[in-house]
Amino acid sequence: MGNIFEDFEGKKSIFKDKQPLDHRFLPEKLPHRDEQIQLIAKYWSEVLNNNTTPSDITIYGKTGTGKTAAAKFTRGQLLEATDSKNVFVKVEYIRCTDYTTEYQVIAQLCQKLGRNVPHRGWTRGEIINAFRDIFRSKNAYGHNLILIVILDEIDVLLEKDGDGILYTLTRTDNVSILSISNNIDFKKFIKPRVMSSLRDKEIVFPPYGADQLADILHERAEMSFEENSLDDDVIPLCSAMAAKEEGDARYALDLLRTAGEIADDKGVDTVKEEYVRMAKDKIEHNKVTDIIHTLPTQQQRVLEAILKLTQDGEEITSGRLYETYKEVSKGDSVTYRRIFDFVNELELLGIISTNTISRGRAKGRTNIITLQCDTDLLETSLYSV
Ligand SMILES: Nc1ncnc2c1ncn2[C@@H]1O[C@H](COP(=O)(O)OP(=O)(O)OP(=O)(O)O)[C@@H](O)[C@H]1O
Ligand SMILES: [Mg+2]
Repeated sequence: MGNIFEDFEGKKSIFKDKQPLDHRFLPEKLPHRDEQIQLIAKYWSEVLNNNTTPSDITIYGKTGTGKTAAAKFTRGQLLEATDSKNVFVKVEYIRCTDYTTEYQVIAQLCQKLGRNVPHRGWTRGEIINAFRDIFRSKNAYGHNLILIVILDEIDVLLEKDGDGILYTLTRTDNVSILSISNNIDFKKFIKPRVMSSLRDKEIVFPPYGADQLADILHERAEMSFEENSLDDDVIPLCSAMAAKEEGDARYALDLLRTAGEIADDKGVDTVKEEYVRMAKDKIEHNKVTDIIHTLPTQQQRVLEAILKLTQDGEEITSGRLYETYKEVSKGDSVTYRRIFDFVNELELLGIISTNTISRGRAKGRTNIITLQCDTDLLETSLYSV
């Protein structure tokens, strides 16, 4: 037998370079984000013009609206601009899903700024002192360091570890924060005393419309696909579908890449409109199965019960759900209250939705649960676990 990789070697592909379709790819221009990028630049320009610490900035917007991309892009531009200027500024990017506590963030910042600190073990006071110490020394031109910290997905950190990180950073001279959140009301996690020192400028990233998504996709497609390999309707269709999904550019890119992969699998040299529809099903399918496979067993049981009731055409009230859940879990069940937590989590994941209806005075209000994904898909995923 030959080497198994031989079959793949030199296999024809309609992609000339897949990288630009990857989420992590940072394009050289970001169409339809000029206004937001200009604003960030305007605030940050304080450091170039006056050598002063810029205002804090908060960026809001739904998923896939270019928040991370715009922040990283502007960071690149600033660093390029500081090259020729006599300023001492650093811009550090922290994704708060990777560093989820105040300690971890501060330790990571220390590391990046060349101060070796342990990743655990020190007290909070020790690590903060080490961090603040960095700003006391001057560079060769007599300037103190100015640090801009990008805290991406900050809602995750605030929810998990509280607002201590903001307290510490806002009270360290020479530090400016750019927070990014896709949760508009993440500020509910911030206490008033911290709020008052976070005098931030807010920038909103609205969802993209279909035409804007089409512009974004055209740019990326040109870098990724061989010439003439997309049927005319492919980009408009990806854009229209993603515009419906709250203007999510990441989803639009996923659709386009997956449609291209389907064409490659079929060994054809153009992407057809129908592949985009197939791509949609495939992405949806993967998303649901991924979510379901990572759910704890009892939560899968709750879903099983919801599936059963949906298939039986029953209206799903909390009471009815609990009864069915107990049947499904055969005695090994959790409390009624715990079920509500599960229901909330499933709703956050977008698998179900709940709707409170009022049934007249005597009966009060009732929660009705509705399944938000395909029953067949759910059934296959649940029973293939
Ligand atoms: N205006 C744009 N031009 C080109 N590409 C874009 C634009 N906006 C977003 N993208 C691309 O779409 C993808 C998602 O963007 P990004 O990661 O910046 O979204 P986000 O707002 O940070 O989403 P999330 O809240 O889920 O983190 C990335 O691959 C990014 O390069
Ligand atoms: Mg992001």
